[in-house]
Amino acid sequence: MITCIVFTLSMIWIQFVNNTFIESDTLVQEAIENVGKDLRYADVYRRTDKLSKNLKYMLIWSGAEDAPLSYFGDGQRRFIEKNCTNINCYVTTDRSLFNGDTTKFDAIAFNGRTITRMGKSQLPKRRSLHQKFIYFNMESADNYPLCSAYFDDFFNWTATYRLDSDIPLPYIQIRDKNGKVVGPKKDMKWVDMGFLEDEELELRMQNKTKAVAWFVSHCKTRSRRNDYAIQLKKALYSFGFSVDIYGKCGPFKCPRHKENTCFSLLERDYAFYLSFENSFAEDYVTEKILTALQHKAVPIVRGGADYSRFLPPGSYVDATKVTPYVLASEIVHIMMNTKYYSQFFRWWSHYSYRDPSQSDNICALCDALNDKNLPYEVGGMDQKIQEELADIGKTRAVGY
Ligand SMILES: *[C@@H]1O[C@H](CO)[C@@H](O)[C@H](O)[C@H]1NC(C)=O
Ligand SMILES: *[C@@H]1O[C@H](CO)[C@@H](O)[C@H](O)[C@H]1NC(C)=O
Ligand SMILES: *[C@@H]1O[C@H](CO)[C@@H](O)[C@H](O)[C@H]1NC(C)=O
Repeated sequence: MITCIVFTLSMIWIQFVNNTFIESDTLVQEAIENVGKDLRYADVYRRTDKLSKNLKYMLIWSGAEDAPLSYFGDGQRRFIEKNCTNINCYVTTDRSLFNGDTTKFDAIAFNGRTITRMGKSQLPKRRSLHQKFIYFNMESADNYPLCSAYFDDFFNWTATYRLDSDIPLPYIQIRDKNGKVVGPKKDMKWVDMGFLEDEELELRMQNKTKAVAWFVSHCKTRSRRNDYAIQLKKALYSFGFSVDIYGKCGPFKCPRHKENTCFSLLERDYAFYLSFENSFAEDYVTEKILTALQHKAVPIVRGGADYSRFLPPGSYVDATKVTPYVLASEIVHIMMNTKYYSQFFRWWSHYSYRDPSQSDNICALCDALNDKNLPYEVGGMDQKIQEELADIGKTRAVGY
């Protein structure tokens, strides 16, 4: 029955598209293609409060193919797919959408990875006061500094891994045991985790006979993490242990298509994992700590962040301020005492970690574009088009 109705609707929609103004509108096209599978697409047209006059248009000016802009997809689709609270955001790379008038967009997105290569002549010539110029970047400030004075007072918002961004896009998300998002954040209040007695865990940890694993593909980095890892490996040798380096920078192989095999090796055999960042920058903590946390290994961190914003006390080892030799003896000391080692996993019963880049971080953009607390004016779609879309909305609402 439902299928029938949807099918009828789709037919009507196709007629609308053919007969009226917006043959090229990919949003309508998408809705037609998807409404049979996913009724939330119907909502886009059915609910007048989600309609065009309410759509927030974001133009991607540069770097659409790189994270994080690549995650937002085209049109409204990604926000609908991700079940965001706000789905009335429309993302495009099409500068000619409003007859080439880019001042009509509510927001213009720039990718920090590519904007450094752009001269003044490649940037928008005009801007309107209501629109937001947004600086996006998931790569560290150390690797992609933006130094030209031209960019002073250029952006209205930042959307980066930094926790003080206007739209924070962290690589990791921390939830408490009720599933509520609690971090990362600047002043994390970690709960008192007590002492952990878990015999099964201790038995499992006894099986971890190897010290340190590292999966890595970029060997030459600004943080010189490779040099540190090699010195750590030498230091561990004197205790009868090693750092097993998988990937391009070491002798062990772990092809990407066998990733899960490698992760289960990590889980079964290794006590520690090197969560070494490629550069030092505030809050630059990437999914490398997830690799450890999600595979029952203790992360050894090395980066420019204050890790107390990201990890519970006593859940990690910090290599940033110690020599490889000191670190090696600490690793061995921890491994020799299973009870001590298992305390690194006390957080298990209090927190969970996940990667928000394909879910909450996508919704965060549309939430921000809708945030009434921020100064905002309705974007610039032609009144005529708005009215036509609203009419279509009403018609469909009746038939639905
Ligand atoms: C979508 O979100 C609603 C509430 O916002 C929830 O009830 C529903 O289960 C979600 N669906 C999916 C597929 O995540
Ligand atoms: C965005 O920044 C520009 C340049 O600093 C400013 O003129 C404009 O008023 C700002 N717009 C909003 C909506 O904040
Ligand atoms: C430890 O390893 C042994 C031998 O490989 C296996 O039989 C046992 O199940 C493992 N113990 C745990 C707790 O995983």
